[in-house]
Amino acid sequence: MKLETKIWDLREYSKNIEEYPYIKEIKDVVLNGGLVALPTETVYGLGADATNQEAVSKIYQAKGRPSDNPLIVHIHDISQMDRFIDKLDPKVRQLMDAFWPGPISFILPLKSGYLCEKVTGGLNSIAVRMPSHLIGRGLLQLINKPIAAPSANISGRPSPTTFDHVFNDLNGRIDGIINGDQSEEGLESTVLDCTQYPFRIARPGSVTQSMIETIIPHSIAQSDFNESAKPIAPGMKYKHYSPDTPITILEGLSQKIPDNDKWNQTAFVVPKSLSHYLPKESIFIKLCEDKDDIKQANHLIYSILHDIDQRDDIVQAYIFGFEKNDNTEAIMNRMLKAAGNQIVNEVSL
Ligand code: TXA
Ligand code: MG
Repeated sequence: MKLETKIWDLREYSKNIEEYPYIKEIKDVVLNGGLVALPTETVYGLGADATNQEAVSKIYQAKGRPSDNPLIVHIHDISQMDRFIDKLDPKVRQLMDAFWPGPISFILPLKSGYLCEKVTGGLNSIAVRMPSHLIGRGLLQLINKPIAAPSANISGRPSPTTFDHVFNDLNGRIDGIINGDQSEEGLESTVLDCTQYPFRIARPGSVTQSMIETIIPHSIAQSDFNESAKPIAPGMKYKHYSPDTPITILEGLSQKIPDNDKWNQTAFVVPKSLSHYLPKESIFIKLCEDKDDIKQANHLIYSILHDIDQRDDIVQAYIFGFEKNDNTEAIMNRMLKAAGNQIVNEVSL
């Protein structure tokens, strides 16, 4: 059944969302079990009342998401966890104090009975995050209930970092979408599994291992996201993004690719400072200014992937592969998924 999806433009109200004329309508939709897409600093989330089984079921339907893939619960205040977490490990609390509100989710042992079962996909742990986005967090405050929110995209499509991305995927499938500008971070949160010690990074994000270990030295066990047979986060086993346009990672761009008319339907997504190496007939898409601008690349990558999908003039795309280090781990993880692990170190026609 096609729903009429309401659109709420809160871009002018980020500091005072309670003054937005339709704010009560948004709150009521959520409290009555509806689905509302909301901006966060990582990506847009598809929010529903995490204590309402029917509402949470609708998230899985709207996204076409496998029901064994658990959701992250979003809060605005640490005291909200009292209802569904038994007692907080002081080390976890230390990390929360350091990084919240912000782009990291913690998987913690679940105290059952308050959140609905569908949120965790039947697991006895729960992922929790406190976003920093003014509108997202303001809304959580106003609703004052834990909100389950996966990324607001159809499963298998790139995560949404703009209102348009959400609209293109979910218009007609959810109750409403809040417009709140492009997500600042651009990649989904770091997911840290704290159900055992040392902790493990279940999904890399912009809060990196070294940032965490600056707060608690040696607190992270090694994991390899791209090779481990059994991912810690169930969501990591699904191919996140299967573009129609074939994508390949291009490692090391250090010499000129010869010009040729045949490149005219090939896009190269590379740092601007390396664009002089590209064949002049090809389509250049800026990933960032320079190859050290990882923050900018994180911010832009999903909108670039969305664009490549929409454009008819691109039949294949190469994306610049960053050298692997603590800062590039997250973006390489997402790009390798988008590329189905296809990597080359030179290109030819
Ligand atoms: O930045 C984000 O985290 C965004 C915004 C909206 O907050 N949300 C997001 O949610 O990316 P989602 O559902 O697309 O990804 C959640 C990931 C999945 O890979 C899921 O398998 C994993 O977290 N996850 C959630 N709960 C878990 C649990 N209890 N144990 C292991 N993995 C869990
Ligand atoms: Mg997702």
